[in-house]
Amino acid sequence: MRIAVLTSGGDAPGMNAAVRAAVRSGIAKSWEMFGIRHGYMGLLEGNLVPLRSRDVSNIIQRGGTFLGSRRCEEFKTEPAQLQAVRILREHALDALIVIGGDGSQAGSYALSQKGFPVVGIASTIDNDLVGSEITIGVDTALNVALEAIDRLKTTAASHERAFLVEVMGRDCGYLTLMSGIAGGAECIVLPEAETDPDTLARDLCAAYMRGKSHAIVVVAEGAKLNADALARHFKEHRDRIGFELRVTKLGHVQRGGTPGAFDRLLGTRFGAAAIEHIAAGKHGDLIGLIRDEVAATPLASVAGKKKSPDLRLVKLAQILAE
Ligand code: ADP
Ligand code: F6P
Repeated sequence: MRIAVLTSGGDAPGMNAAVRAAVRSGIAKSWEMFGIRHGYMGLLEGNLVPLRSRDVSNIIQRGGTFLGSRRCEEFKTEPAQLQAVRILREHALDALIVIGGDGSQAGSYALSQKGFPVVGIASTIDNDLVGSEITIGVDTALNVALEAIDRLKTTAASHERAFLVEVMGRDCGYLTLMSGIAGGAECIVLPEAETDPDTLARDLCAAYMRGKSHAIVVVAEGAKLNADALARHFKEHRDRIGFELRVTKLGHVQRGGTPGAFDRLLGTRFGAAAIEHIAAGKHGDLIGLIRDEVAATPLASVAGKKKSPDLRLVKLAQILAE
């Protein structure tokens, strides 16, 4: 068998572990393994390299993806997808493994609909992918956000100030909600549970009146009231609100850096499982984690869908912020 692996969309810490596990599990079956550089863009360019065991040495501890990743608008079109299938066949490949998030898996589904065998691996820091309770990169990104919140709390408490931290996650509030709860935030603003700026200001004042020395608001980048919107509002209404809001945007810092143990192990389990799936003659599925077990879900039920965080935890966060 000749199998290719690519990483697509936003890179995620732990992607390298998944590539390494897929390559070495394939080699253990005497298969020929290949890497496609720069996601679907590289696929359209036929940017294919053989991957031997030594080619994936010393990458498990590295963040990002050594294969490179890209966003590729062109790949959303049918002619590009047909061209990709032609290229995969020209290279006599038997299957493709796509490591990425919801957009990337929509691409996987398109290829598999056109008759090429594809297996997806759930990987995005956003945790918005249907078919996996947790995806590669989430745990590491969450810990980066948490460290920032913990650090801001110490300076907030010293000055009795209010701080706002904006967390990545595109349109999904998962990372914001979880880092807000684990970081003991006073307020959390999600795209799935919006609030208004005056209610937020009142909640922060109430926390101060309850004797808190700090106030931390964790806001999702995808919320209408994201860091820019809230900073503008608090500046415009400074006199009426009565206090300032210091703003920190975590941005891509949250996506970069060394993968933690959880993401290395998750990537490893997913990479090995993708190879076993292909060996069993199966494809057209996403490899993810369901009830703590590695499981496959048809790409047809994954593509074009979005997962939301458990909003019951918003109420819990409010109770715990008392
Ligand atoms: P992620 O996979 O991390 O969610 P994106 O949403 O940016 O990241 O998607 C990554 C790439 O997947 C896109 O740049 C594009 O090449 C491809 N893709 C996204 N959506 C589709 C789609 N509906 N059909 C085919 N390919 C898609
Ligand atoms: O999907 C992963 C992600 O990091 C999102 O959290 C974020 O909104 C987006 O990618 C940023 O994309 P880019 O790196 O293209 O700016």
